[in-house]
Amino acid sequence: MLERHVGRPHAEEKINNFTVPLQRKKQMLRPWMKIMKRLASGHEYEAMSDEWVAKQGESQVMYNHGMIRILPDGWIYPGTAPKFLDKIQEFDFRQEDVLVMTFPKSGTTWMQELIWTMFHNPNLDNPQGDDKLWNRSIEISLDMMFDTQRVEELNLETLIEVLRKVSPGKNEEDGLCLQLIEALPGRRVIKSHYPLDLFPADILDRTKVVYVARNPKDMAVSFYHFMRVVKIYDYKGSLEDFVKLIMNNELVFSPYWPHVKQAWQKRNHPNLHFVFYEDMKADIMAEMRKLNDFLDTSLTDTQLKNIVEHCSFSSMSSRGEPVADRLFNKHLQETSGGFFRKGRTGDWKNYMSEELNQEMDKWIKDNVADTGIPFKWGD
Ligand code: A3P
Repeated sequence: MLERHVGRPHAEEKINNFTVPLQRKKQMLRPWMKIMKRLASGHEYEAMSDEWVAKQGESQVMYNHGMIRILPDGWIYPGTAPKFLDKIQEFDFRQEDVLVMTFPKSGTTWMQELIWTMFHNPNLDNPQGDDKLWNRSIEISLDMMFDTQRVEELNLETLIEVLRKVSPGKNEEDGLCLQLIEALPGRRVIKSHYPLDLFPADILDRTKVVYVARNPKDMAVSFYHFMRVVKIYDYKGSLEDFVKLIMNNELVFSPYWPHVKQAWQKRNHPNLHFVFYEDMKADIMAEMRKLNDFLDTSLTDTQLKNIVEHCSFSSMSSRGEPVADRLFNKHLQETSGGFFRKGRTGDWKNYMSEELNQEMDKWIKDNVADTGIPFKWGD
């Protein structure tokens, strides 16, 4: 919780790893933010300064309502996030749902498709399986991203039409994805880049969570590519600068460590299943059998094998992008891949300079020391 230092203009507050001079902190608050400084969950948040936003905007697309940082962990999100986070506190999670929770680029899509297929297409004969994944397994953390200054790239009208059809009378401004998820029938596979801490405190009593973690070097390279190829981010900086944004907890969806650690600490909870992307790559059938137990799906080994094949990197990529094609920068998509880039472990070695690698090693060592999360780095 924040300590207040009223009347001490030169005082500083230590918030997680951020030292924020109080005078600067005041400047970071926009007038419209002042009335909404606390989330329903009790977390406090602050608007990032105009200078900070302008600096970020030099290399990537920003958001109409600026960006915020949620305390105490320092989550960096578009300025509209509080409205949707508050709705999540009241959201009706069902016992049979699964939240696929990840820091971006950690294997979310692969896990979503595996679980959706286990639930709804175990014999690979459901025509719904041909629909784009983002219509079948919707992201609960996506509504805030629609504040992007490139919203026209998203063609939200199509999604709004779907909402009108499935839930007449609903207002998309109350959360397009949130309300589409509400209307999904059966066992829902809900994607989340929000961390455990931002869900209701009893979330693990209410629903199952599958958490996928990926070693931060491969995650960073994959995220860098993704933010370059997807038009609503259009990242223009170097890989070095990008990795520094991650290490300084300044990139949207950051910080990485509390995200992974919060789930790691709960890895023995009966309703949380913690998986490493690298273990999925090394022995996917072993991971499928664990998932089959955790999700109570009672599928046979033959069904699991067929699902694995259906969800392999080559099968998924041959079926096309999981989101609308128009979101991608065509040139980069053709030269470096789109959503499905390489799907490997250890690819970071092809991109990182020795100096950058050493900086990351120090960052990882400092942060992993207290938990010993056993990441694997690839051959
Ligand atoms: P790369 O960019 O390293 O190739 P997310 O789904 O969390 O955004 O993660 C995307 C990463 O998972 C990308 O990594 C993507 O290629 C990889 N991926 C997607 N589907 C996969 C699959 N079926 N098998 C292995 N990796 C997959």
